[in-house]
Amino acid sequence: MSQQELHGEVYYPSAQVVSNAIIPNPDELYEWAYANPLEFWAQRANEYEWYSKWDKVLDDSTAPFYKWFTNAQVNIVHNALDRHQDTDTRDKVAFFWEGEAGDERVLTYGDLYIEVNRFANVLKKLGVAKGDRITIYMGRIPEIIVAMLACAKIGAIHSVVFGGFSVPALAGRIDDSQSNLVITQDGNWLNGKVIDLKKIVDEAVAQSPSVKHVVVVQRAGNNVTMHAGRDLWYHEEVAKVNAACETEQLDAEAPLYILYTSGTTGKPKAILHTHGGYMVGTATTLKYVFDIREDDRWWCAADPGWVTGHSYIVYAPLLLGATSFMYEGAPMFPAPDRWWSLIDKYKLTILYTAPTAIRAFMRQGEGHPAKHDLSSLRLLGSVGEPINPEAWRWYYKYIGGEHCPIMDTWWQTETGGFMITPVPALPLKPGSGTKPFFTYEADVVNEAGDSVAVNEEGYLVLKRPWPSMLRTLYGDPERYVQQYWGKYPGIYLAGDSARRDEDGYFWIIGRVDDVLNVSGHRLGTAEVESALVSHPAVAEAAVIGLPHEIKGQGIHAFVLLRAGYNESDELEKELIQHVANVLSPIAKPEKIYFMAKLPKTRSGKIMRRVLKARAQGLPEGDTSTLEE
Ligand code: WT7
Repeated sequence: MSQQELHGEVYYPSAQVVSNAIIPNPDELYEWAYANPLEFWAQRANEYEWYSKWDKVLDDSTAPFYKWFTNAQVNIVHNALDRHQDTDTRDKVAFFWEGEAGDERVLTYGDLYIEVNRFANVLKKLGVAKGDRITIYMGRIPEIIVAMLACAKIGAIHSVVFGGFSVPALAGRIDDSQSNLVITQDGNWLNGKVIDLKKIVDEAVAQSPSVKHVVVVQRAGNNVTMHAGRDLWYHEEVAKVNAACETEQLDAEAPLYILYTSGTTGKPKAILHTHGGYMVGTATTLKYVFDIREDDRWWCAADPGWVTGHSYIVYAPLLLGATSFMYEGAPMFPAPDRWWSLIDKYKLTILYTAPTAIRAFMRQGEGHPAKHDLSSLRLLGSVGEPINPEAWRWYYKYIGGEHCPIMDTWWQTETGGFMITPVPALPLKPGSGTKPFFTYEADVVNEAGDSVAVNEEGYLVLKRPWPSMLRTLYGDPERYVQQYWGKYPGIYLAGDSARRDEDGYFWIIGRVDDVLNVSGHRLGTAEVESALVSHPAVAEAAVIGLPHEIKGQGIHAFVLLRAGYNESDELEKELIQHVANVLSPIAKPEKIYFMAKLPKTRSGKIMRRVLKARAQGLPEGDTSTLEE
């Protein structure tokens, strides 16, 4: 533990937390790893099995297309499942699962291995080959994990689309990735109702000629239409194949998955991650940050449809041989104490969730957690947006019982794993993600790329490559170079603003680009605007994010109507529903403002900054480029 006196509101770890930590003296390791990054990562990589080892830990000769563990042969699934089959881990629980209605399933490492082998054989039988893209559109059920691992096992590239996206958003992602297979389920339980996922897939696939087959997991039992020759039931197909399947030996840089995320344009970016570096990066960060032990019961409450689920529900916990918990349904169903009852029932030891969830629970009051025994918890985590100090203190006191350090992890779909994050033995400051992880170098810079002074705001950048970094944007390498490495050559631009305090602790302020963060979900202003403009009444639209008590940011939309349409409350409701229908219910605007004109620059660009200032009654700043 650091002996240094720190500034501001500081929570020092207890002697017990420090003595139990995998890294009891982080300062020493920070220093050594920073000076010896490649040696640090080579050591970590040696904790996993490789069919053959690398020539070089890092090859930066084609930067920014960095390569890690060059010419090594590996498969992430070999390390996540296969290697555990000859050890005691085989009989260890990989997942405790509970459905929204209270139904339970338990999968050991042995069970999961067999299920993945079977489904991989189904994929092969359907003609899926190495490098093929497979879209997965499902809820939080064990088969989504099986589907992802089965793809990876045979070298196919999964593209998971969050189950809350609507038909056009799903169709766009299927089409962009040219997927030939979609894996889905009949329906998904949410808040006591069934969402008909298969129907959404049917409508999306009707617009996507690349799709040859749809595999459907039976979950909710709702009526679905199976298209002969195209659609297959998961349970029927896995029953026809055997349980042995070789894992494909792949190059360390072979693609593992693509995951679409929002950027500054209307077209989402397909972030590409690979087998080798991602494996080492995600497993190492989970192990050190959440101090994973043999008897832990880890709950990452995210959805597998986002990167948090990819890295910290599916891959990293299995790589570490850890026991996880997964819950299918809505957090407050049937009552606001559901999560706390689950922690008590399954004796979960670590909870990793988002500030928006904490704020929502906070509003329900501390009486709900107080009804349950949460003493099994020993660590907490936060991700997705800056956590406001009040929410931090509430989480610390009422969930963590004032003895669980909170790991506030800053990272992105692009980074694959935690980047700025504490480890348990590090003193914490509510609202700060503390420091870059071992070997990493972060900085806060001005327009010119120079480091700014202590506590001054600037652009957050990463100055060294890291193993779990994105390798490119699938199908668009130019955009990869321009978006992330174009502003400061050789330096990764995160798209967030931040400041660093007198103790070297980082404080994330928020996005500096046109990206919104609604309940921890990343959405582009341009995506919401194009959803609005696709309605016949709308000529032009501009959306901004304004502070929202629970969601962090709420979407406010400014709309110019086409001739012949008049503003009304009904039209406002209709436009809000339209956004839900064409993009996602998570993207619904809080309010629509009907405008006679929108503030624009002389070159015709909408000045969202001016709308935002006006909406909040703040000074408009430099408006010299405004049209009039
Ligand atoms: C953006 C990335 C990484 C998994 C979830 C989101 C914001 C994320 C934090 C945090 C402050 C955070 C940033 C970042 N963000 N975690 N701990 N503190 N801000 O992944 O959808 O790629 O979004 O989320 O703005 O750039 P994502």
